[in-house]
Amino acid sequence: MQASRVVIVGTGGTIAGVAGRADDLVDYRAGTLDAADLVAAVPTLAGELLETETLARLDSSDMDHATWLALHARLVALLQRADLAGVVVTHGTDTLEETAYFLHRTLAAPRPVVLTAAMRPATALSPDGPRNLADAVAVARTPGAGGVVVAFGGRVLAGHEVRKVHGFALDAFSTGDAGPIAVSEQGALRLLRAWPQAPLHAAATRLSAAHAAGAAAPLAWPRVDIVTSHAGADGRVIDALLAAGTQGIVVAGTGNGSVHAALDAAARRALARGVRVVRASRCQLGGVVGARADALPSYGVLTAAQARVELLLDLLADA
Ligand code: SIN
Repeated sequence: MQASRVVIVGTGGTIAGVAGRADDLVDYRAGTLDAADLVAAVPTLAGELLETETLARLDSSDMDHATWLALHARLVALLQRADLAGVVVTHGTDTLEETAYFLHRTLAAPRPVVLTAAMRPATALSPDGPRNLADAVAVARTPGAGGVVVAFGGRVLAGHEVRKVHGFALDAFSTGDAGPIAVSEQGALRLLRAWPQAPLHAAATRLSAAHAAGAAAPLAWPRVDIVTSHAGADGRVIDALLAAGTQGIVVAGTGNGSVHAALDAAARRALARGVRVVRASRCQLGGVVGARADALPSYGVLTAAQARVELLLDLLADA
């Protein structure tokens, strides 16, 4: 028999946010409500086979590596339960693309791990969280579904492709040219392409070892920074990062990943000191296509934020 129980893990965000006034969509406290409160606000979820737990109460702009590790450990444990159809993670929108990418690269998810979020706080006159949560639970229960995905705004997006492209609008996420995996129509999913499958990063074994060791051997996360190329850029930020002991730098380049000559020269100084440097694009969509013969390396389509996660994992795996 197909399992239908779903666990909802709360990590904070606007979806769990509370404002002083119902018409205030800006000045609110993210991560105030528990996962159970979010479920209680969705009448169609009443009586459903759901469990809730609140792992964190973060405004996701404050997301950190320790919370990622705790979330990863919890999801690994939950995905071992044969009675679960899938897991839903409620999250803030601001760094959702980083958490989704991190999980996609490090979590074997034969059953769906569905991230969801909201642009409006739970106290808004017309909050978007309840609909998104109901959709996320439906995705988590979909037979044959799997991988790390995002249910948001009536669409299901691949966790490794998603990016936040709007700071305020309800339709805040895009997967660009890739498009959605599925659309939600009247509570039913119309599948457009295959569920994502993750070739796990080698660093996943480091995370498993960290879970096993617990506090006895805390994971030493490498320091990876993002620097943006822009008109008038120079190398001083990179030189300061070298002095601060950075181990990896993502240069968010202009256009197709081009880098100001002065910044590029500083990046070469970093490379000469053994610091990994990769290029991304500061454009929202498209990433970096191809490379000139002398260009810094890139991870192709990844956003600068995703490239930072990939470099972090590369450095973790090499450590
Ligand atoms: C956050 O990312 O936690 C705040 C913003 C949001 O969820 O939309």
